[in-house]
Formats: sequence, C-alpha cells, structure tokens
Amino acid sequence: MAAAPVLPLAGSASSAGIETLRLSDASRAAWTVAAERLVYPDYHDLAAWTAFRESATALAERFVPKEMREALQAFFAPTGDPAIVLENLPVDPSLPPIPESGMRPVGKTAVSEVAITGILCQWGELLSFTNEKDGSPIHEVVPVPGREILQSNAGRVKFGFHSDNAFLPSWFKQQGILLYGLLNEKTATSVVTAEQILQAAPAELASLLAQPIFRHACPASFSLGDARALSAPCPILWRDERGLMRVSAASSTIIPVTPEAELALELFRSLLDELVPAKVVVRPGTALLFKDDRVLHGRDAFQGPRWLQRAYFTDSLDLLRDVTASDWRAFSFDARVLRSGRERA
Ligand SMILES: [Fe+2]
Repeated sequence: MAAAPVLPLAGSASSAGIETLRLSDASRAAWTVAAERLVYPDYHDLAAWTAFRESATALAERFVPKEMREALQAFFAPTGDPAIVLENLPVDPSLPPIPESGMRPVGKTAVSEVAITGILCQWGELLSFTNEKDGSPIHEVVPVPGREILQSNAGRVKFGFHSDNAFLPSWFKQQGILLYGLLNEKTATSVVTAEQILQAAPAELASLLAQPIFRHACPASFSLGDARALSAPCPILWRDERGLMRVSAASSTIIPVTPEAELALELFRSLLDELVPAKVVVRPGTALLFKDDRVLHGRDAFQGPRWLQRAYFTDSLDLLRDVTASDWRAFSFDARVLRSGRERA
C-alpha cells in the first residue's frame, strides 16, 4: 500500500491522512483494453444502462486487486473511513476536447465511465437527480464559459467548503461522491473532516451547530424552478447514532433561523478558514472518494484546462425508487418530488 502522497499538509496536526492505493501498470493496461470494448449507453434507456452497469462491474471485479478491493470494502462500510484515494486507474487513451457545454462529448470512449461505474457498483449504487445535468449518472466537471465566476462545478474561482445537495433530506441524497481525473495537473480538492471541525470548535459553538436551526438553499447547478428552495431546519455538525461525526453545509446560501444560529454560522465559517485541509490533486487516473456528510470539500481557484468526472453514490436506491414510484432499475430522481416526498420509511 502506498503512502498518501499529498496529505496531511506539513505542519498540520489536525488534518487527516487519506488512505491511498495504486493500481499496478499491468492491471491498468489490461482494464483499459477491456473497457475500450464497452460502448457508453443512452442512460435514459434503463435496460441499456443496466447492461452497461453489469459489464462494468464484472470488469472491476476482474481487475481490482485484492488489496484495493479490501480497502474499498472497508471504506464503503457505514463506519469506514470518510475518504479514500485510488491512483493509476484507467483513462481513455484518446480524449476529445474538454466539453465547454459541461455535458459528456458524444465521441468519447467509455473507459473512465467503465471504471467509475465498476468501482462504485461493486459495493453501492450510482445516484443522480433529473434536475441536474439531465440526470446523467456521471457528471462532467469542467469550467463552463459564462459560469466561471460561480462557486459551482462549472466555475474556476475558489470553491469554499461545502456539501453537495444539502437542501435535500439526508435519507434521499447521495451518501458519497467520487471525483475522477481526466485532465488536471495541479488543482487541488480540499477536504476537512467533521471530526476535525468538532475538535477545533469551542463547546458552545459545537452545541449550537448541532441544533436544527439552519436551512440550506438549492445549489446553482440545479434547475428546480424554485430559486428559493430550502431544506427543513437541520443541524450543521452532529454526532450520529453510531457515534460518528456528521457535517452538512450548502455551497450556496445557508439561512440561520434564529439569532443564535446567525452568530454560530459566522463563527463556523471563520473556523473553517483556520483549519488546514487535506489536499488531493485529482490527476488523470486518480479517484477521490469521500462520504459527503463526514467531510466538507472545496476546490482551489485554477487557470488552464481541467476535466474531472463526478458520480454520486449511495448504498441502496430502494427508498428513492419507492418514494418516486420509479422503475426498479432507475437511478435518477426528481429532486422536487424528494423535497416534498414522505419522511424516511
Ligand atoms: Fe461539491
């Protein structure tokens, strides 16, 4: 097992190390050749998507070595580490130009998508929302002309610490995020853990952050037809029934619902500025996986070309399919229905 190449930053006593595993060159080459034979489907066709998912999962079972498989199994367990890094994974030998539309280029081969789908669907499920990037199971994270100054996956400016989709009830949103590098030489993704935040927070602040007095707004990347879509009042930082620290903070606006919440939010943001994050450069062939409510993530500002892919994952889609009365193979759900859907089953 390789030592983590990037973390923690020198001089930091509080940033967490992230386990990092590297695929052998031989396995990477063999997996790439096999993946090139698969064709990326029209994901609206659920039969075609399911066939692709099954083929991709079979290839991952064949090419992910025992040590990496065991580390991933431990990561995907409910009490597993909040993040893991995989290196030297397959990337398409010939990539088309970076898609300025933010949508997958039609001519791209499916190598990275085969690896992403195979890794995630061995232990969990991909999840997307019909209101974001046309419900695509795998998102292109690229700077989009005209949107570069937004704090979003389409931007170039520094993207502060946040969780994705904090406006949704926790039982309906993704449990984790995978970021996969196609083109990116030096822009780092930053991660701070909920435990790290708790350790740095004065007790009074931690107590306020654990109260359901914050409402999270819908991010810029969603089109819900309701710009003021907000979560129910919920905590930002809390300990769950397993004793694990959890954190949730929207990338867009957070509305404090009491004067104490307003002060706590201000102090929380100042606290985040003082923490030393783990930093991972998601280079070509690198995958960073993290639990979205065990860490907050952000991104440095950057110039030049950058193309990552992103996939949301969860352990089961049964509740989402049930609540939205969807096909048993569905993986993409309408966030408007989930916002107004029934409570946890
Ligand atoms: Fe994000």
